[in-house]
Amino acid sequence: MKTILTVNGKQHEVGHDSRRTLLDTLRDDLGLQGTKKGCDHGQCGACTVLLNGERVNSCLCLTAMHEGDEITTIEGIGSPERLSALQKAFVEKDGYQCGYCTPGQIMSATAMLKEISEGAPSYVSDDLGAPHLSDEEMAERMSGNLCRCSAYPLIREAIAMAAE
Ligand code: FES
Repeated sequence: MKTILTVNGKQHEVGHDSRRTLLDTLRDDLGLQGTKKGCDHGQCGACTVLLNGERVNSCLCLTAMHEGDEITTIEGIGSPERLSALQKAFVEKDGYQCGYCTPGQIMSATAMLKEISEGAPSYVSDDLGAPHLSDEEMAERMSGNLCRCSAYPLIREAIAMAAE
């Protein structure tokens, strides 16, 4: 039995193992190593990918449950020749130090900017209007992505730049 997985617009046939995580499938079976393994327990956000446009920790997803879903990894949002606006902003603002968390940060920020453009209510105030992308709002919305080097101010500067 096989699972058909749609990743970055392409279909892949992968082995059906009910215990295999999406993170391991992406990295080890499909060679998409931009998605990083940090804690492997849903705590750090290094493994963030988009699942039908929503951010998820791929270490907490079972591959076999995602046939028919649209999965997007860091490799699917840009390339070295054609960086996305967020990727460019991270380069320009030095939004990283060691870089290990960067793919997860960018995937999470990609989803966050979409949520905000769609008028998601604020996380940090009672105002139910579309949130202003304040530093506080951004910190709250990006709190699932840890950076062990503590490059948070530069990460938020990069996101703010891409949001302009
Ligand atoms: Fe998935 Fe840390 S590796 S959240």
